[in-house]
Amino acid sequence: MDIKNKGCVVTGAGSGIGRGIALALVDAGAQGVIIADVQLERAQAVCGEIEAMGGKALPFRCDVRRADSVEQLAEFAWRELGHVEILCNNAGVINTGAGFDTSDDDLRWQFEVNVYGVFNGCRAFGRRFLESDERAWICNTASHHAVGTPTKGVATYVATKHAVLGFSDAFRLEYGERIGFSVLCPGIINTELWDAGRNRPQELGSAFIGSEQNHSALQAYGMSPEMVGQLVASGIQQEEFLIWTHPYSSELVESRYTECRDSIQRQWPDGPQPFHKRTPSKV
Ligand SMILES: NC(=O)c1ccc[n+]([C@@H]2O[C@H](COP(=O)([O-])OP(=O)(O)OC[C@H]3O[C@@H](n4cnc5c(N)ncnc54)[C@H](O)[C@@H]3O)[C@@H](O)[C@H]2O)c1
Repeated sequence: MDIKNKGCVVTGAGSGIGRGIALALVDAGAQGVIIADVQLERAQAVCGEIEAMGGKALPFRCDVRRADSVEQLAEFAWRELGHVEILCNNAGVINTGAGFDTSDDDLRWQFEVNVYGVFNGCRAFGRRFLESDERAWICNTASHHAVGTPTKGVATYVATKHAVLGFSDAFRLEYGERIGFSVLCPGIINTELWDAGRNRPQELGSAFIGSEQNHSALQAYGMSPEMVGQLVASGIQQEEFLIWTHPYSSELVESRYTECRDSIQRQWPDGPQPFHKRTPSKV
C-alpha cells in the first residue's frame, strides 16, 4: 500500500517504536499523522519533531484502554485530516515477574492496554474504513512473543501478544478485501518499555518501577526505534502480514511449528482419518 498522501494515526506515538513509526510514515510521504498517546506532552514533543521535518502532525491524548477515548481519536483524526487510511495500533505495556506472582491488576492492566487497546483501535477505525471506498491498512504491534517466548518472567505479556496475532489473523480473513493487516513482531528494541509503569493508572495498582536490569538489556541489545519505523513503513508498502525486526525470531517460529507438527504426527501417525473433516481453506 502506498503511504504517499495518506492520513495516518499511530497510538503510543509519544515514545519508542510508535514515535519511530510516525517519523517513518512522514518520511514516506504521509499527508499527516495523528500522534496519539496517554502522555500528551510526549505526543506534543513528537509533533514538534515532525513539523521540523516539514511534515504535518497533530497530538491527541488517548487512553487506548477505553473504547470511548479511541472513538474520540477517530473523530478527531477524520475531522483534522479529512481522511484516514492507515492506523498503527502500537501502544503497549509490560509487567515482568514470575507468572504466579502476577496480581489481578497486573494482568488487567496489560490486557486492557495490549489487547483491548489494539481491539478498540481495530473496531473504531475498521468500521469507518469499511464506509470508505479507499483501501485502508491496520498495523498492530505485537512482539516476537506472539509466536513463543525466549525468556522467563513475561508470561502474561506473552499471552497479550498471542492475542494480538490471533485477532489480526482472523480480521484479515473477515475484512482482507477492504482492509489490509500487518502484525509487527519486534525483538528487543531500545525504548522506554522497561519503564512502562510510568503510565499505569492508579485504579490498577501502584506504579511498577522498571528494573535497571531490563533497561540495560534494552539499551545493550536493542535495535533503534527509528529503524523499526522504517521496517514498518516498508512492510506496509510491501503489504506484508508479518513484519519482523530480528532474523533470530525464526528460531521461535521454528520451535513452535516443529512442536505442533511433531505432536500431531505422534498422536495421529497414520495421518488424517476418514471421520476428520478438513478445515476450510483461507482462500
Ligand atoms: N521495546 C521492545 O523491546 C519491544 C519488543 C516487542 C514489542 N514491543 C511493543 O512495542 C510497543 C511500543 O512499546 P515501546 O517499546 O516503544 O515502549 P515505550 O514505553 O517507549 O512506548 C509505549 C508508548 O505507549 C504509550 N501508552 C502506554 N499506555 C497507553 C495507553 N493506555 N493509551 C495510550 N498510550 C499508551 C506510552 O505513553 C508510550 O508513549 C508495545 O506494544 C510493546 O509491547 C516492544
